Amino acid sequence: QSIVYRETIDSTNSLAQQLALGGAPEGTLVIADEQTSGRGRRGRQWFSPPHSGIWMSLILRPELPLAHAAQITLVAAVALNQALSRATGVQAGIKWPNDILFNGKKCCGILTEMHAEFDQIHHLVVGIGINVNVAQDEFPAELEGIATSLQAIRGERIPRAQVVRTVLEEFEPLYRQYVLNGGFGTLRDAWKANNITLGRHIVAHTARGDIEGLALDIDEFGVLLLEKADGEREKIYSADITV
Ligand code: BTN
Repeated sequence: QSIVYRETIDSTNSLAQQLALGGAPEGTLVIADEQTSGRGRRGRQWFSPPHSGIWMSLILRPELPLAHAAQITLVAAVALNQALSRATGVQAGIKWPNDILFNGKKCCGILTEMHAEFDQIHHLVVGIGINVNVAQDEFPAELEGIATSLQAIRGERIPRAQVVRTVLEEFEPLYRQYVLNGGFGTLRDAWKANNITLGRHIVAHTARGDIEGLALDIDEFGVLLLEKADGEREKIYSADITV
């Protein structure tokens, strides 16, 4: 598998998209030391200074219906959380669907982008951002209270290569299961074992407005089930969550 490294790039997801459209094989990894326009979910920017993080994107070509594409993000979140624990001892947790939080602050994010042909996946780009060696006071003011880094958590600098390797090692078997079993279903228990959302009272900020309730469960598609104060249950397909 090839690794494409750039010292500086606008966004590893953008380059991975170009390479994927040009026929780059499954498993191609695009990784950069710095991103000048790192992208987050919902059109947000992703702070990606040089020497400080892991900014990388993986090209995947699962032969699955498009309906399963979004679930890859939950698979990647499990791999990331397990990798952090194994490589650095940091015991973080997944906030549905795929943010990795430690003490309520985010240290990793995942941005999946996809291309489809009719209703089949053509390729996926799974973009992973891990704040590694960013001191807490180096975050921009608007992030300081909501973001953290592995260095800030552990109190020492963390070599990045070992973390990259461990993320890929954790991801590969989970990805194989996802492809072989046709989706997220069999990984649901692994996701639950790594999550910090279920059993809590949360607010889901959805396109239909805010929905408040107890996070009960996720289904085999990764959809979140909420129980509202009036006892009514609601499925959340896409939202930002406040825990
Ligand atoms: C989020 O909003 O939580 C997702 C953040 C994803 C950031 C990563 S860094 C590598 C890849 N390239 C990008 O431009 N974004 C993703």
